[in-house]
Amino acid sequence: MPRIPRDQSFDSTLALLFDPYGFVSKRCRRYGADLFQARLLLRPTICMSGPEAAELFYRRDLFVRRGATPGRIQKTLFGRGGVQGLDGDAHRHRKQMFMSLMTPERIDNLKELTAGSWSVYAQSWAAKDRVVLYDEVQQLLTRVVCTWAGVPLPEPEARRRTSELTALFDYAGSVGPRHWWSRLSRKRSERWIEDVVEGVRAGRLDPPEDSAARVIATWRDLDGEPLSPRIAAVELLNILRPTVAVSVFITFAAHALHRFPACRQMLQTEDGSVEHFVQEVRRFYPFFPAVMARARRNFEWNGYRFPRGRRVMLDLYGTNRDPRAWDAPEEFRPERFQRWDGSPFNFIPQGGGDHDLNHRCPGEWITIELMKVSCEFLANSMDYDMPDQDLEIDTRRLPAMPKSRFVMSNVRLRS
Ligand code: HEM
Repeated sequence: MPRIPRDQSFDSTLALLFDPYGFVSKRCRRYGADLFQARLLLRPTICMSGPEAAELFYRRDLFVRRGATPGRIQKTLFGRGGVQGLDGDAHRHRKQMFMSLMTPERIDNLKELTAGSWSVYAQSWAAKDRVVLYDEVQQLLTRVVCTWAGVPLPEPEARRRTSELTALFDYAGSVGPRHWWSRLSRKRSERWIEDVVEGVRAGRLDPPEDSAARVIATWRDLDGEPLSPRIAAVELLNILRPTVAVSVFITFAAHALHRFPACRQMLQTEDGSVEHFVQEVRRFYPFFPAVMARARRNFEWNGYRFPRGRRVMLDLYGTNRDPRAWDAPEEFRPERFQRWDGSPFNFIPQGGGDHDLNHRCPGEWITIELMKVSCEFLANSMDYDMPDQDLEIDTRRLPAMPKSRFVMSNVRLRS
């Protein structure tokens, strides 16, 4: 029986922090295998990359999520008690709550709100010397998603709430003061949203029937009981936070329009091209590096032995660039999506497998549509200059980001 290759260091956490997007795929290549074992945060962890590994990782009979996510990620990015850590029937039931919010009508409504906001924001940019796109889009999306989700956001609080929601994803992978700011933001955001949940339950707030605030505040778990206010807050934040995080992909899309000018032309002239462009941005740019689970029981895969309880990490970024699935994966080529086979395991920027049954992101459609609206606006409704700036993608931060956060000047609206 082959032995799973082992990373040599006593603990590889620092190497992972140093190169979060390349850590797994580089080592897989070095060891000539789809997997290797390393010690991460002092726990032995099997790291895997590629479409076959993804297919394995999403087998519910072999893996569970309970206890897989490191505490520091729970205390910042996810919160405790949310859908990410559930398994089996409890997961499927809770996942339905999220999936019920993703109807075409609800997504159209979010798109309309977003398109309207782009016009308003772009007008305000036209009056300024220069603007930082990443920061502006965070504000825009916070306002839009709160309206869409039925969460009141008084104007004087908007900036503060934006920076708290942003800190949940933008600093979750940091160490030191940023990590502590992220933890504090988690506490403040949960308190804010707990109040909203209690307000809906007490009748003080009256959001629409199909809004996230109403659906989550009135959802009953498998035991027939409503979610505790804290868990309801964690789940409503599971809508607000990642929608604001789409600002990362929108900034990458702007980066791609600048770096590959032919794409801008394509969006201006070819109907339907925006879909392929957006998909290629999601494949090419580094955002969510990996996801974690634990082996449910002892089993063997391709002759390798996985012991029960062993933590396993699936490389999302490396799988999206796996040369076995993608021609010239290091090149930005939107047209490749004309021929993509639609596999749930080779293109997994937001997880793989099945949306209802697995932990695959229920916000994928929202992400794609928000990116499409934003790219169309950037390419067809406005012009701008790019002052001197450092556009290199900083891949040592999580999530990665152009170092300048994408600065635009002399913004003009097209009539
Ligand atoms: C799960 C990425 C946007 C809600 C996930 C997962 C990833 C991901 C990697 C985990 C998949 C797994 O564990 O197998 C992203 C990225 C986004 C994004 C990169 C772009 C900003 C959204 C949006 C929403 C959302 C817009 C909601 C409006 C969720 C929820 C889960 C999830 C609730 C947990 C699902 C479960 O555990 O079953 N996302 N996501 N995400 N995402 Fe997203």
